[in-house]
Amino acid sequence: MRRHLLFEELNLDPFQDLPDEIRSPELFISSEWVNHMVDAASYEVIQQLGFGIDELKKYQSIESETERQDFVERLADTAGVVPDRVEVFAWLFRWLIDPQRVVGVEVQSFDDPMNGFPSFEETFLKAIEADPQVQPNAELIQFALAGYRDFLVGEVEGDQVLFKPGSFSLWESYFSNSHRITRSLNSIGAHVVKSCLEGKSEVRILELGGGLGSAAEKIIEEMEPQLSLYHFTDVAAGFLRRGGNMLEDRFTELNLDFSRIDINKPFGEQKVSNEGYDLIYAVNVLHLAKDLKTSLSGIHSLLRDGGQLVFVEGVRPERGRPIAAEFAFHLLLAFRDVEVGTHFRPEKGFLTGEDWSAALKVSGFKNIEIYPEPKSAVEAYPNHYLGAFVAR
Ligand SMILES: C[S@@+](CC[C@H](N)C(=O)[O-])C[C@H]1O[C@@H](n2cnc3c(N)ncnc32)[C@H](O)[C@@H]1O
Repeated sequence: MRRHLLFEELNLDPFQDLPDEIRSPELFISSEWVNHMVDAASYEVIQQLGFGIDELKKYQSIESETERQDFVERLADTAGVVPDRVEVFAWLFRWLIDPQRVVGVEVQSFDDPMNGFPSFEETFLKAIEADPQVQPNAELIQFALAGYRDFLVGEVEGDQVLFKPGSFSLWESYFSNSHRITRSLNSIGAHVVKSCLEGKSEVRILELGGGLGSAAEKIIEEMEPQLSLYHFTDVAAGFLRRGGNMLEDRFTELNLDFSRIDINKPFGEQKVSNEGYDLIYAVNVLHLAKDLKTSLSGIHSLLRDGGQLVFVEGVRPERGRPIAAEFAFHLLLAFRDVEVGTHFRPEKGFLTGEDWSAALKVSGFKNIEIYPEPKSAVEAYPNHYLGAFVAR
């Protein structure tokens, strides 16, 4: 059984100084509906591969992590899951049997994984009826679910599943400030950037992985008079063009620059300013660094004296614990194709707050701050999954 924790019972102290929407019942409810949709979708994938409650029960009854892994590998083998995707298959079990997970929305059917889950279709409809703001998440999970089995057995690439023809409107609604979860990440980022820039003017900002421009939009809306340059970048030409056009149309007075920058290539070989930057910003991008220390050290070298890196990330509540966003995003090769095994990056995907701090330190950064402080945030809300980081 999962423990119920309703919003009214949450200790909001760790979230006190953050923007209102970060500690709002609305964000909590959206996040919990996303969790339920990921429950239903994960269970459906397991069923499509021929498994169900019996296997979940068996998995739960195994105590040792190594034996659990062996068990899942045997199931994967029976179902024809290709070797480099067994980690994604194993994630489904970890997600469904996460012993720390709490249930934050009163829907009995999600209380006990051992009773199975309602269908994804039913959950999708309930979720968007209860909270229309989760529509982009619901559609993304639906997109992922439609190709999950084929992806696991190697019939299709994950990038084809998530970027199939016709998916662009989904990405536009997902990475938009009209979408609550995206807006919350951008708001916490803008809040932290604002405090970093207090009293400063003529500030030069570089944004990495700017995508469709939703994070930039929030920063510029609030801080335009303090900026002398906003250099907007992304690795994907399509995103860069769309995001760049939107910013140019909206902010006609600002000195905007654009270029294609890949955080996995040496910055010196790419179009960056040789005058350096006062602040480098990234929202949900840095976990895609293949070699985290090299990318972070490269970012460090682009900062002027006194410069700061601010980034927002999905934050793993504890090593080994899954977070809902991974259900769809780890289909992407860029998410999985990262180097692990260092003391600060033991696993793929998102990092814990502590691991981020350690990665920043080995890359030359000092005075690291995280909002909200991850340990107390997870203690208050065990499903806590986001954070804004400042490093100098
Ligand atoms: C999760 S999205 C975040 C988009 C944007 N920051 C936002 O919040 O609206 C990740 C972005 O990182 C970009 N990206 C992926 N790999 C990258 C890389 N190696 N270098 C730079 N950007 C990358 C993607 O194209 C995408 O726009």
